[in-house]
Amino acid sequence: MKPSNQIDLANLEPFAQGSERLIYKSPSNNRQLVKVIKEKHRKRPMDNLYERMTLGPYILFMREYAAYISALMMQEKLGRRPPLPRIFGTVPTDQGIGQLVRMISDEMGKIAPTLQDLLQTDGFTQTELNLLNQFVEDLYGFHIVAYDLKPKNIVLEVKKSVRRFVLVDGFGDRALIPLKSIFTKLNNRKLDKEIAKLANQTGLVLDRKNRKFHFPEKQ
Ligand SMILES: Nc1ncnc2c1ncn2[C@@H]1O[C@H](COP(=O)(O)OP(=O)(O)OP(=O)(O)O)[C@@H](O)[C@H]1O
Ligand SMILES: [Mg+2]
Repeated sequence: MKPSNQIDLANLEPFAQGSERLIYKSPSNNRQLVKVIKEKHRKRPMDNLYERMTLGPYILFMREYAAYISALMMQEKLGRRPPLPRIFGTVPTDQGIGQLVRMISDEMGKIAPTLQDLLQTDGFTQTELNLLNQFVEDLYGFHIVAYDLKPKNIVLEVKKSVRRFVLVDGFGDRALIPLKSIFTKLNNRKLDKEIAKLANQTGLVLDRKNRKFHFPEKQ
């Protein structure tokens, strides 16, 4: 018999997916997503003490949640929202533990396009460039520990006509001793590397000193 608190996803189509996770729309709330770890990454029965203590593959959810709480603490100081989706917690599903998060959406309420989508469809203009620079400023300002700042992990939200980029994946400190979470300088150095990679991936030019992207000069 299935536990009464379990969410069934098996009969649903994943809404989106990455290399590690499948993303479903929550069956009970169409503004929430349930993210589960793909089966190949959670194969063994996870029931021994070591796995319970280290959380197995679900350590990812824990790190993201810690980063989210830390960003909310910064929100109190800075008086604006961090560039992360709201994380509601975790829920049991028929595909292992699921992470419940706010679905970042566009003006129609549909799932938000990624930065990659925008770049591929000519949807990235000076306006989006300015928003991307604001996003980068917020990564530093909110002290977000980011390790995979690629165009597929950054999505464009439209909420009450306000547009902003949000990081949906690749944040949280993965180190055993979370030095980047503790030392701003260390984290800033990592962010400098991540935005340099993002410049390579997007074809944008990075002004390293001011941490701002530009369009390349036309030849
Ligand atoms: N909160 C969200 N709101 C809107 N879209 C989202 C959200 N989370 C994820 N997505 C979409 O789902 C895709 C995959 O999600 P995610 O990056 O979390 O999966 P992953 O398996 O961890 O990715 P990766 O391949 O980078 O390891 C994203 O590229 C994005 O399009
Ligand atoms: Mg991803």
